Parts: sequence; C-alpha cells; structure tokens
Amino acid sequence: MNFADAKAQVQRLLSTVSPEDLPKLIDWMKNTDELEDYLVDNQRVILQSISEDLRTRLPVDAMFSSETAAIHNTQQQQQQQQRPTVHVDSFLYDEEQVDVLCEEGKLSRCFCLSCGSRSTAALDFISHSFSIPELQFLFQRVLPDLTGRLLLDVGSRLGAVLYAGYLYSSAAQLVGVEITEDFVRLQKMAVEKYGFSDRIQVLHADVCSQGALVQTADVLVMNNVFQFFMEPSDQIKAWQFIVHHFRKRGSLLVTVPSLQESLSALQGKVVDTGQWVEEVPLDYDIYLGKNCDSGSLREIHLYRVL
Ligand SMILES: C[S@@+](CC[C@H](N)C(=O)[O-])C[C@H]1O[C@@H](n2cnc3c(N)ncnc32)[C@H](O)[C@@H]1O
Repeated sequence: MNFADAKAQVQRLLSTVSPEDLPKLIDWMKNTDELEDYLVDNQRVILQSISEDLRTRLPVDAMFSSETAAIHNTQQQQQQQQRPTVHVDSFLYDEEQVDVLCEEGKLSRCFCLSCGSRSTAALDFISHSFSIPELQFLFQRVLPDLTGRLLLDVGSRLGAVLYAGYLYSSAAQLVGVEITEDFVRLQKMAVEKYGFSDRIQVLHADVCSQGALVQTADVLVMNNVFQFFMEPSDQIKAWQFIVHHFRKRGSLLVTVPSLQESLSALQGKVVDTGQWVEEVPLDYDIYLGKNCDSGSLREIHLYRVL
C-alpha cells in the first residue's frame, strides 16, 4: 500500500474511534515506542550486527593512533573554541548506546567549566560516520535507483556507506577509498565476513591518486572527508582534484555538510561550483526512528554534475 492509501485508511479508522478515546489514541501514536518496530527491516538488522561487531574491535572513540593529522586538527579546534570535543561514531553508537557509555563512566556528555564546581557545559560531539538512519535516508530517499551504477565513497573509514549501499541499493559496484590503512584492514575484514565481496571493493589510497576512478564514478559520496583530516592548503588541492575529475554529466555528488559550507573555510580558492554542479532539493520530512537526529539529515546535500 502506498502512502496516500495508507493515510486514507488511517483517517477512516480514526473517524470510527469513540470521541472520548480519540485523544488517547492520538497521544499513543505520537509518543509510543511500540511503533518503532515497524521501522526495523532486515537490512537494518544486518547493519546493526556489523556495527556491533566493529564496536568490539575499536576503542570507544573509534580513532586509530595512526590518524595523526585528525588528532592534531581536533586538538587545534578545541584550543580555538576552548571546549573539548569527543569523537563518537554514529554508525557504532546511537543515542541509547551513548547513554549506556555514560552510565558505564566511559563517556560524559558534559565537561567541568571550573574544576571542582558543579558548573558544567555540553561537550562537542563529532561523528566520522553516517548513522544507520542517515544511511537509510541516503539510499532510500536521496539517491535514485542505482542499478548498474558505480558509487565511490571518498574516505570510506568503517565502510558504513558501502555496507548500506550493498543492502539498500542495486548499485553494480560500491568502491571505498580510504587513506588510513588500519580502517582499510577493518573494512576488508567486514566485507569478507558478511559476504559483500561480489560488489564491494576497498582501496588503500589517497583519493587524489585515483583520477580514473573518480572520472568513472556515477555517484560520489563525500561525508566530511577532508575537513578534519587535512591542512587547509591540502584541502584546497583535494577539492580542486575532485572538481577537475568528477565531470561526467548527470553524475551525482552527495556532500555533508553542503558544498557551500565545506568550501567556505577555503576562502573561495577552489572553483566556482555554480559552473560544475546544481543542487537537487531534498525532502527531509521523514521519521526514521527516535534515535534519528533530524538536524543531521539536513546536513546531507545532493548535487547533479552539469
Ligand atoms: C568523516 S570520515 C567519512 C566516513 C564514511 N564515508 C561515512 O560516511 O561513514 C572521512 C574519512 O576520509 C578519510 N580521508 C581523508 N582524506 C582522504 C583522502 N585524501 N583520501 C582518502 N581518504 C581520505 C579519513 O581517513 C576518514 O576516515
């Protein structure tokens, strides 16, 4: 049944409920957790099990000590903002699991403003992966049918985009390029273990050495790839490389945050993106479960190459 038919049926049902019970029923529909189960599909269950598996293989912040540039940039940002930042990977930990970490004393949502006092402020959380609801949104709402297409995830990290693309789309090939070798090893393990190797390939490389691959991609996913992981001068070169090579007319670019925001810190040194891509408007009005932060969905942007 499609949305319009289902809505008509629900309205018909509501018109038959006794007036004194109607407010109670609507309140239940708006606030109950019982309806969450209808949002769980087999794909989500598999993604949750991969997430659980990876959680046991990584430290709580899901960072490797080999990520020296990322660690350095985070420290610099903390100094500028004078507040600490915590890395919590949204593919590994949803809001409920963050609560569990806090209860276990492995994480805190607040830091002390003046040590010894009870004055506290919220910590900045950074995620380096899409959450499972964001991935569902990406493949079910943002991207069209990917049958026969090649999707390239630039900076594939834990492989979340690749696994979700395998489960939620018919893309012929899903390729991840990741510069940190420890994450490449982790992704290759998961691809093998979950039987995804017929359509997923993971490369250990700097994307800037992969011109031919970027040119053939039909969809390029760029979730905060360069911002934390490169110095601004290298970010400019990396973006120029992407703009130069990702040129196939009609191919799709997904960015987080928007291109405008991604490039704003680089002081207009990339290119005039208006000549390169046009933004495709997205419908963000969708409920994907109580653990889905609707603000983070709005950070996802889609562009079509002109
Ligand atoms: C924020 S994570 C994105 C994770 C994943 N794409 C997702 O959406 O869940 C960005 C990743 O890009 C990688 N990266 C940064 N610069 C890169 C480059 N030049 N080539 C390949 N990977 C890069 C980082 O190591 C990091 O793992």
